[in-house]
Amino acid sequence: MRAYDIILSKRENKVLSFEEIDFMVQSNVSGEVPDYQMAAFLMAIFLNGMNKEETVHLVKAMIQSGDSINLDQIEGLKVDKHSTGGVGDKTSIVVAPLVASLGVKMPKISGRGLGHTGGTIDKLESIPGFSVDMTEEGFIQNVNEIGLAIGGQTKNLVPADKKLYALRDVTATVDNISLISASIMSKKLVSGADAIILDVKTGSGSFVPEQDKAFELAKCMIDIGTNMGKNTIAVVSNMEEPLGNTVGNSLELIEAIETLNGGGPEDFKSLCLELSSEILLLAEKAANKEEAMQMCASALVEGSAMEKFKHFIAAQGGDVSFIDDISKLALAPLAHTYCANHSGYIHAMKAREIGLASLVLGAGREKKGDAIDHGAGLRIHKKVGDYVERGEPIISLYSSRLEQLASSIGYLNQAVEIKEAQCKKSPLLHGVLKAEAIH
Ligand code: URA
Repeated sequence: MRAYDIILSKRENKVLSFEEIDFMVQSNVSGEVPDYQMAAFLMAIFLNGMNKEETVHLVKAMIQSGDSINLDQIEGLKVDKHSTGGVGDKTSIVVAPLVASLGVKMPKISGRGLGHTGGTIDKLESIPGFSVDMTEEGFIQNVNEIGLAIGGQTKNLVPADKKLYALRDVTATVDNISLISASIMSKKLVSGADAIILDVKTGSGSFVPEQDKAFELAKCMIDIGTNMGKNTIAVVSNMEEPLGNTVGNSLELIEAIETLNGGGPEDFKSLCLELSSEILLLAEKAANKEEAMQMCASALVEGSAMEKFKHFIAAQGGDVSFIDDISKLALAPLAHTYCANHSGYIHAMKAREIGLASLVLGAGREKKGDAIDHGAGLRIHKKVGDYVERGEPIISLYSSRLEQLASSIGYLNQAVEIKEAQCKKSPLLHGVLKAEAIH
C-alpha cells in the first residue's frame, strides 16, 4: 500500500477500506507516513467526507493506535459522559457525584482546558491536594468503592488522535463531522465504559455553531457507539451564551458546589438534571424519565450528591474543608466590573468571546502545558433576555495582572450586545437523541 494512492482515492471521492484507513493512521503514528501526506489525506476527507462505514473504520484504526483501559473489574454497568466543549460547562462536577450517589458507576477520563473552552480537571484542581494522578488499580478501586473516579489522559490512549488533532488544528480541517466524531468516540471507546452520554453543544461557543450540524454530529457519534456495542445517547444543548453564571476554574467550582448544595443557577441546574436523569435511565436505575428526574432533584436537595462529591474529592487527595467553606477557594486579587454603556435588553452574550476573555484573564491556556491562574475568571450578572440600566454591572472580572484585565475588556465589548427591543432567549435544550429513535 502507498499513502499516495490512498490520498488519490479519497481525492477522487472513492470509498476507502478499513485496511487503507488503518494503514494511513498507523503509519502516520509510527512516522512512516509524514505529516504532509497525512495533512493532504485529512483535507481530502474534509472536502469529500466519509460514509458511516469509513467513519467507523477510522475510529477502529484510531483505537488500535494505542492502549485501552480495562474496566472489567468494576462491578455493574459503567457510564461515561462527554461534552463536546463549551464555556462555563462544569456539568461533570455535579453530574458524576449525583449519579454515583444513586448507584451508577462513573469511571471518567476528563480533559484540561484549551483555547476558549475550560476543562473539568483544571476546575477540580482549584481544591488544594486534588489530583488525577493515580494507578489504574487505584482508579478502579475508587470506582468500586465510591462509584466514581476522574482520571486524566496519562496513558498511551489514542496517540493517533493527538497527532491528527494537532494536524487538523493547523490545516483548517477541524470542523468535519466524521473527523470530530472519530476523535471524540475513539477516546470514549478506549475508556472502557458500557454506555455513553454525549452533551453536544451548539451555538457561538461550540465546535459546531449550526444546530443542524450539531444534530448530524450527535447522530454520527451515536451510530459509532452503537456499531461498537455501546448504548450511546446524546443531548444537544445551547452554547450561544455561557452555561451558568461563572467562567474560570475556582469560580466554576464554587458554582458547582452551590448546585450540589441544592442551589445554583437555573440553566446550569436544569442541564445537570437532564443529563443525570438520562444517565439513570441508561443505567436502568429508574423506570421512567419522571422518576429519574425526581430521584436526581432529591439527591441535590437531600445532600447525598454533595456527600458523594466530598468522598470522591477526599479519595483523590483534595482538602474537603475548601468545599465546606468556599470562601477559602482562591479568587484572583484584581477585580473590575464591566457595566452597561446604555440601557436595553441583552441580545447576545457570545460564549466564544467570553471564553476568550476568561483565557486572557489567566484562567485558560493558549497551548498545551501553559500555566493557569485558578482564581481568574468572570462572574456574569446578566444573561440573554435580561434588561439592564445604563451603568448597571453585567460582568465582574478577576485577574492577577492589570494588563490582563485591560485586554479582556476588548473581548467583552465583542461578546455583549444590548438593544432596545425585548429579546427572547433560545432554549437551553434542543433535543435528546437515542439510537432506537434515529434508525
Ligand atoms: N473535541 C475532540 O476531542 N475532538 C474534536 O475533533 C473536536 C472536539
